Amino acid sequence: MTQDEAKALVAKRAVEFVEGGMRVGLGTGSTATMFIRALGEHVKQTGIKIRCVASSDASAKLGKELGLEVLTLAELPELDLYIDGADEVDPQLNLIKGGGGAMLREKIVASSSKRFIVVVDHTKVVPVLGKFPLPLEVIKMALPLVLFGLNKLALNPKQRKRPDGSDYLTDENNFVVDCFCTAITDPAKTASDVRNLVGVVEHGLFLGMTNLVLVAGDNGVTEMTR
Ligand code: A5P
Repeated sequence: MTQDEAKALVAKRAVEFVEGGMRVGLGTGSTATMFIRALGEHVKQTGIKIRCVASSDASAKLGKELGLEVLTLAELPELDLYIDGADEVDPQLNLIKGGGGAMLREKIVASSSKRFIVVVDHTKVVPVLGKFPLPLEVIKMALPLVLFGLNKLALNPKQRKRPDGSDYLTDENNFVVDCFCTAITDPAKTASDVRNLVGVVEHGLFLGMTNLVLVAGDNGVTEMTR
């Protein structure tokens, strides 16, 4: 099974958790995109009524194009279910997210939801977080200060750039800094260290936020729980 086939499989499975009347958070990234497409199809076929809030402008646009009712968090402040992908998942179900740069809004939507289900292909499951660079959303003015602080913490930071060399900007118009940590042996400490740097708006460590990860691989979809 290719990685894309695994993503499509797990995205389809996640749709089974959506019931009529639910307020659903839409994630961001390639797996979440497959989920949004599968959800759009499901809503069309079954006629169930759901309302959604998206974690990025791109996911909001896609949801609307597919006929989903996509509202703002101001209009729908409490959600029943948030479905999103992740870049890494450890055995305690801690996550690194933000490869797509949407971790701030993703964490806001996840925090607004009663339940957060993560959908990944098996390559995302790791014994220790950190091989995937840890992204931080950073206020533009604070970039030099934050880079200095991250270097002092030996977190090996690098400002994210677009392929054409221009600054990568989030939907909130902030910079992203990726920390090439290699291994994050104490995620709570790293989260607290980076949060303490003035100018860091949010980080991509999602700790204790989910109790169900759906993982797709050659044996189909398995569940990681805690
Ligand atoms: C977006 O900012 C990310 O958090 C994504 O959810 C994460 O990077 C997973 O993306 P893929 O499903 O594209 O691997």
